[in-house]
Amino acid sequence: MLNIESVSMVFNKNTPDEHKALDNLCLSVAEGEFLTVIGGNGAGKSSLFNVISGKMVCDSGNILLGNENITFMPEHKRAAFIGRIFQDPMKGTAPNLTVEENLIIAYMRNIKRSIMSVPSKNEKNYIREHLAALNLGLEKRMNTKIGLLSGGQRQAVTLAMATLIKPKLLLLDEHTAALDPLSADSVLELTKKIVSDNNITTLMITHNISSALALGTRTIMMDSGSIVLDIGGSERNELSVHDVLRELSSIKNRTVE
Ligand SMILES: Nc1ncnc2c1ncn2[C@@H]1O[C@H](COP(=O)(O)OP(=O)(O)OP(=O)(O)O)[C@@H](O)[C@H]1O
Ligand SMILES: [Mg+2]
Repeated sequence: MLNIESVSMVFNKNTPDEHKALDNLCLSVAEGEFLTVIGGNGAGKSSLFNVISGKMVCDSGNILLGNENITFMPEHKRAAFIGRIFQDPMKGTAPNLTVEENLIIAYMRNIKRSIMSVPSKNEKNYIREHLAALNLGLEKRMNTKIGLLSGGQRQAVTLAMATLIKPKLLLLDEHTAALDPLSADSVLELTKKIVSDNNITTLMITHNISSALALGTRTIMMDSGSIVLDIGGSERNELSVHDVLRELSSIKNRTVE
């Protein structure tokens, strides 16, 4: 489904601040796989998402989604089939518009209709039912301005927006990091449900190692713009949070040396 072939990206090239955010990175993700992505601050995790979503263009290498080479495709075109959710619950939604208006805009964008066009009654019902499926009662708050919802509720609506039309790929960049522990847990549960109900190919960045091991089917660890650990199956099942922390700390020590 997703093939990243030797992708590199350098910031501030040919200056004293030159920094390689992605270094010859290769990654293949099969359809329906759910990868969790871990690694220290500055490891290149968000940069990887930036080149996949089109927010940034890599300096070399190729990004293929399905049979399509999307390396140079503009971000707004990729947004129709790549969903992305950020740490900040306000990002990606219009706070002064209602829950329903935000969902309608996301729906129109995904089916490539003008956001000015009016959805049919059936479409409005579909959007409401998609939100109701989260079992949070948010369908009763369709007319509430999204800026008035709690962080957890906003992230739940954002998840609904990103999955109204099944995306080819869902990118979650620390999407529970700004939430209190209970809201974070419930948004993670919701993520698990939405991803498995719809069999969505997903990459989720997290600093919470226990979530990284509990969710999904495979875990990759990044350091200095490369993948330094890639584990799935029984090997992953046997790994403890302590093992991963030890690995992270040994990488950090190597970098410091
Ligand atoms: N716009 C930019 N200009 C210059 N350097 C950047 C820019 N964006 C990222 N970097 C650098 O690229 C490296 C990778 O950053 P990135 O944001 O991908 O890390 P990350 O793994 O997501 O870290 P975190 O866990 O802190 O979110 C870092 O050293 C960072 O300073
Ligand atoms: Mg980041």
